[in-house]
Amino acid sequence: MNIILPHRPRRNRKHPAIRAMVRENHVGPEHLVYPLFIHAGEVDVPIGAMPGCFRLSPAGLMREVEAARAVGVHSFALFPAVAEALKTPDGREAHNPEGLIPRTMKALKDRWPDVVLVGDIALDPYNSDGHDGIVAADGRILNDETIAVLCRQALCQARAGVDIVAPSDMMDGRVAAIRLALDQAGFHEVSILAYTAKYASAFYGPFREALDSAPKSGDKKTYQMDPANSREALREASLDAAEGADMLMVKPAGPYLDVIRALREASNLPIAAYQVSGEYAMLKAAAERGWLDERKAALESLLGIRRAGADLILTYYARQAAQWLVGG
Ligand code: PBG
Repeated sequence: MNIILPHRPRRNRKHPAIRAMVRENHVGPEHLVYPLFIHAGEVDVPIGAMPGCFRLSPAGLMREVEAARAVGVHSFALFPAVAEALKTPDGREAHNPEGLIPRTMKALKDRWPDVVLVGDIALDPYNSDGHDGIVAADGRILNDETIAVLCRQALCQARAGVDIVAPSDMMDGRVAAIRLALDQAGFHEVSILAYTAKYASAFYGPFREALDSAPKSGDKKTYQMDPANSREALREASLDAAEGADMLMVKPAGPYLDVIRALREASNLPIAAYQVSGEYAMLKAAAERGWLDERKAALESLLGIRRAGADLILTYYARQAAQWLVGG
């Protein structure tokens, strides 16, 4: 059989070298940011729904960062598990200069001055109500009162050496307020990675277990976005860009690839995507049962996020994926 067929797309797939020649996207260690959970305890405590992830002790964190750096991952997003006794309604531990996050940032910068640190800006790990903002007596999340605390949190991290602050709280106007606070204090070099389109997602479940930070009452729907919406993400994107964000984020990543693409097309800013705890948990669970080839499925999920238009990806697979990518 040899029909005359002018278009045979398979010709561009016939050899590995040709496939490599025409490959449109790739994912490399340089695109990955590694989120790590830390606590003040002396042992690394495994997180049930996130096999391979731990609440790291100070020593465990140093080991994990060193191992990730060895495979080309240089950026780390830190999330603290805070002792219940330190949680208050106003989340003041978020800007304690002696707190776990500033202490840890200083220790990392002392050891590796070239490490890139991404600091989470939100109150949920510190707030006795488990919300990202301050909760009023009637249950409302107070926007403007929260912003004042977020600015203090950003300044506290800036003094500790943070490179990028990442407000994940979804209060209105926080990017402008944080930019102003940083600039007024002389921290014009600290970047802002805005969680621009952060959805009220069920995929954050394992993260809240990791930090013991689930809301004590209510949900996060008055500040995080409705999963049904995409035009609203464009509105958030233009506000964050106008307020001075350096990068925009979509979160979660896998179920929101269309939103990543929409922001990529609407903005010239770098786009980040967060492959969240639930996305990681799904891959791990299927892999543990032998239902998926973990390496192939995890790398494909990251490539899909890049193809959708993300420049950088926050992923709990960062170290493992980098190791696979560099041939380990
Ligand atoms: C809260 C915050 C959350 C995540 C990152 N920052 C959870 C939430 O909004 O409830 C989730 C990340 C993940 O699930 O991996 N500021």
